[in-house]
Amino acid sequence: MIDDKYQALEIETANAMDFSQSRALQPKAHRLIPGGSHTYAKGDDQYPEHAPGFIARGKGCHVWDLDGNEFIEFGMGLRAIALGHAFEPVVEAAQQQMRLGANFSRPSKIEVDLAEAMLDLIDGADMVKFAKNGSDVTTAALKLARAYTGRDLVAICKDQPFFSVDDWFIGSTEMNAGIPESVVNMTVKFPYNDLQGLRDLFERHPGQIACVVMEAEAATPPASGYLEAMKELCESQGALLIFDEMITGFRWHLGGAQKFHGVVPHLSTFGKAMGNGFAIAALAGKREIMQLGGLNHKEERVFLLSTTHGAETHALAASLETIRTFREQGVIEFLWRQGERLRAGVNEAIARNSVAGFFELDGRPCNLIYRTRDQHGVPSQALRTLFLQELIRGGILAPSFVVSFSHTNEDIDRTIHVVDQALGVYSKALVDGVQNYLVGRPVKPVNRAYA
Ligand SMILES: Cc1ncc(COP(=O)(O)O)c(C=O)c1O
Repeated sequence: MIDDKYQALEIETANAMDFSQSRALQPKAHRLIPGGSHTYAKGDDQYPEHAPGFIARGKGCHVWDLDGNEFIEFGMGLRAIALGHAFEPVVEAAQQQMRLGANFSRPSKIEVDLAEAMLDLIDGADMVKFAKNGSDVTTAALKLARAYTGRDLVAICKDQPFFSVDDWFIGSTEMNAGIPESVVNMTVKFPYNDLQGLRDLFERHPGQIACVVMEAEAATPPASGYLEAMKELCESQGALLIFDEMITGFRWHLGGAQKFHGVVPHLSTFGKAMGNGFAIAALAGKREIMQLGGLNHKEERVFLLSTTHGAETHALAASLETIRTFREQGVIEFLWRQGERLRAGVNEAIARNSVAGFFELDGRPCNLIYRTRDQHGVPSQALRTLFLQELIRGGILAPSFVVSFSHTNEDIDRTIHVVDQALGVYSKALVDGVQNYLVGRPVKPVNRAYA
């Protein structure tokens, strides 16, 4: 249902961009696919009404929608793309491998090659296992921790938004229909940057917590000594520390946030950018724990990540080439530099439009996000929608401000110019009311109980 007050403006008068082909396809997508897409974060409810509905192709940091409209984009496939869309050397490596066959009845050598390349990057990890999705490898880390410790509970950081599509995590969100209460009760939560919070949790569940799952850093950096103390606390309590490096890996540092912060977890999980868009994820960790999934031990065996498509050869080739590019071309430094250029320009635009406190950037330069607040300082989905709408009007698609190796100075400067204009409208909306500027309904949180 569309809220009446947001229907005030006619879409056609708001923008000259034509989205008619996208519009025509959307009802069919929703008829055939629950949610209209295969990832909730890409859904129609996450974008303004006046937005491209489908992307037809991408090159570098530019994408073209079904109607031929061009955008500079900053979502980068939910951060799966760190080098750029259709990045030539990666596409070439995948193509060459594809011609040799995608999947066999015995392992292929490239599985060992990529294992070696990954373990070269991750300090303190002795073994690695690949899969297709971040969710799968993080769930596998849990299974391993439970088997290793003989405990059932898992502790997750409550201030970080996402760890897995599997029941142990989704059961802890608002959108937990279909998940048995017995599973929901197996996950307990602790606050970020609050060592006492985790201490309390261990006290409430003595000898029951198998592992602590967290991102070393999300929007907020760790307080000095926090991560070191977390590891010490886990070890003193007999639990494993698991870092989810889905976002931080291949962005904070080539060795992940664990290298950036100098704290080595017992297990860590990677995905997203490690294949520059090809489906590949990894669980890495200490031999003593990882080998429970192997053949060379006398303990009870753990069924650790054994999937038909887990080692699809062209995704492994894409990942090898991605790692080579990161190593040889200073990609991490580039991401931080371009992110800093963007941050500085956007912060100037915030000051110029007097919206400080109402619109703000957060996170590291390599992974910027933004927050929108109304005139009372309360987080506002309507203002987020307006900002997205005004960016789209200027040819920018930015659910976040995540830069890639393909964002040139020109792309960044063009973006800053459009952000400046968008914040001009934003500042007027703070005074006159967002409904006077927003076309259609506001966006909604991804994980909510009801549509
Ligand atoms: C921090 C984090 N962990 C895990 C996942 C799950 O990864 P995937 O979607 O590849 O299953 C995500 C996905 O957005 C994520 O952001």
